[in-house]
Amino acid sequence: MKVAVLGFGTVGVGVYEMLAKAPGFEQGPVLVRKGKEDQPFKVSSMEAICADPSVGAVAEVMGGVEPANTYVAMALRAGKHVVTSNKALVAAKGIELAAIAREHGVSFLFSAACGGAVPFLHNLSIAALSDTIEALGGILNGTTNFMLDAMQTEGKDYGDVLRQAQALGYAEADPTADVSGLDALRKIMLACAVAYDKLPVDGFAREGIESITAADVTDFQSRGLTCRLVTSGGEAGESVYAYVEPVLFPAGAPECSVQKNFNMAKYRGENAGSIVLMGQGAGRYPTASAVVRDLYGIGGVPMMTERCREVIADNASCVHPYYVRVAAKDKALFAFAECREDGENLRGVTEPMAVPVMHAVAEGIRKEGGSIFFAAME
Ligand code: HSE
Repeated sequence: MKVAVLGFGTVGVGVYEMLAKAPGFEQGPVLVRKGKEDQPFKVSSMEAICADPSVGAVAEVMGGVEPANTYVAMALRAGKHVVTSNKALVAAKGIELAAIAREHGVSFLFSAACGGAVPFLHNLSIAALSDTIEALGGILNGTTNFMLDAMQTEGKDYGDVLRQAQALGYAEADPTADVSGLDALRKIMLACAVAYDKLPVDGFAREGIESITAADVTDFQSRGLTCRLVTSGGEAGESVYAYVEPVLFPAGAPECSVQKNFNMAKYRGENAGSIVLMGQGAGRYPTASAVVRDLYGIGGVPMMTERCREVIADNASCVHPYYVRVAAKDKALFAFAECREDGENLRGVTEPMAVPVMHAVAEGIRKEGGSIFFAAME
């Protein structure tokens, strides 16, 4: 089957190269912007790709919601299977696109949109049929894991490690999506849709790593703790809980051994128990490998079923103690189990707090021009 590739950036180049060696598949045309058709296999007409009967599948790796959404819908309506690494697209338009795919009898698969090379959504789509998924999530952003690892093990500066992650092709076109937790949030949205047929579209709690300082790293390392950006999801009555926040793990926790651009995706099945999948979560070939792997899933278990519907996330029942660094004047906003002053700042660990309460307090402090770093205590 000939596969057209939409986009020729970091992942697109990897997919195109891998197609040359993928049994049962062959390289098709590559869609690029008008004026960029500098090689015979590059084209700028999506209409021509859709009209080409030799193209059986499309790999969309251009990123962003539009024009990817228009092109994917065109391909599905033309009877082409679609595989994509585009989490922004699936989070925003996945339910509609999956419906178009069903209507036209083709597959719409997006395992590469969550976890890079880690076969998380693929396994989850099958496990959701055979078991009850009690919880899911883990470390799902390679850029921030790479950054946190380098800051903690090599004492590197935030700006330097971000630039390095961009140069290595881990970060999104706009790396704000990575460091703000938005990229990880989109991934937990997709995982909830696959596992629970519930796509959370609002009501999230999201905290990235933008507030972390070298002094924070020194302090929690002195406590024997390691920081990771973690996503959490699970059923919450008619809805799901879905949030992203930094978490501090004690030495010996498996998360502490997740290094560089690696991800650690987890789910717990009622019968299977805990399943942990680890591998490179970002980068050209790891992500391309997942796109190509999805081609072999064509005709198999769908990732987004006709039962999937939008819900508002409900995090009210999720409660943990938090490590907090705030200005001493903000002390009264928290019930600290222990705290100590550190210059103008105060650092401590709170009594257990509900996730939405912690995130709302932090938002309030920032609205007033204040500064805070917080991380859940595992
Ligand atoms: N920017 C993403 C990450 C790419 O760092 O995880 C893979 O989804």
